[in-house]
Amino acid sequence: MKSTEPAAPSADMSVANDSVLATVDLVVRYGAVVALHGVSIHVAKGEMVALIGPNGAGKSTLLNTLSGINRPASGRILCNGKLAHVPEGRQVFPDLTVEDNLCLGAYRGGSRDTAPMYDLFPQLQRLRNRRAGGLSGGEQQMVAICRALMANPDVIAVDELSQGLAPLVVSDIARHLVELNKQNGTAVLLVEQNAQLALNITSRAYVIENGCIGLEGRSSDLLRNPAVRAAYLGGIR
Ligand SMILES: Nc1ncnc2c1ncn2[C@@H]1O[C@H](COP(=O)(O)OP(=O)(O)OP(=O)(O)O)[C@@H](O)[C@H]1O
Ligand SMILES: [Mg+2]
Repeated sequence: MKSTEPAAPSADMSVANDSVLATVDLVVRYGAVVALHGVSIHVAKGEMVALIGPNGAGKSTLLNTLSGINRPASGRILCNGKLAHVPEGRQVFPDLTVEDNLCLGAYRGGSRDTAPMYDLFPQLQRLRNRRAGGLSGGEQQMVAICRALMANPDVIAVDELSQGLAPLVVSDIARHLVELNKQNGTAVLLVEQNAQLALNITSRAYVIENGCIGLEGRSSDLLRNPAVRAAYLGGIR
């Protein structure tokens, strides 16, 4: 099957024209393993969308394919703007300072002025000359998000915002993402194991299982959906 170039900007009548990011029937394989079986999603301009699902469902594969790390076997990626990716595990450059990590985020054409990042996350200001590898997990997550934002993206895809972080740190970072979305209109695609958090801060969501989108809808509806509650919210009321 012919490979499709990722993230080539193009007009496509099969996805809503207010989309900043969309996939159409995306298939991704790792050798014989099919990780995504024809996934179609879209994110509208300025929208916050969650992608939830169990371990191994294909969430990181989807984000890595959107950002060009994986090549799709078939299907299309439509990106109507600039995408920035906060990878799973943060992946800051450990031996570089916070400031230098941020500056590297501007390599795709954003401004090298880091001041707006310290406005967004004031906690980073006093850490700007520290080695990123010596920071706490939460601080590294802030660096990773700011490094992505330095590209001045239209949409930011965040893989596992809460991974390994204390609940208070997570809600603080999540609040900043919501603020960013409201103030700058930056669209957010949030991959998150904490379904409660993800559905609380987004307006729409997809549930991915075994490489297929099983459910999609308004986050508030999915929060009430019995299947979602049983599988992802511990059956809580
Ligand atoms: N480099 C790889 N080589 C082979 N198989 C892979 C590779 N990366 C992922 N997979 C497989 O693809 C499937 C999807 O993995 P992926 O990492 O996308 O899941 P995920 O939803 O992000 O899971 P998690 O919640 O644990 O991060 C899994 O079955 C995984 O084992
Ligand atoms: Mg993952």
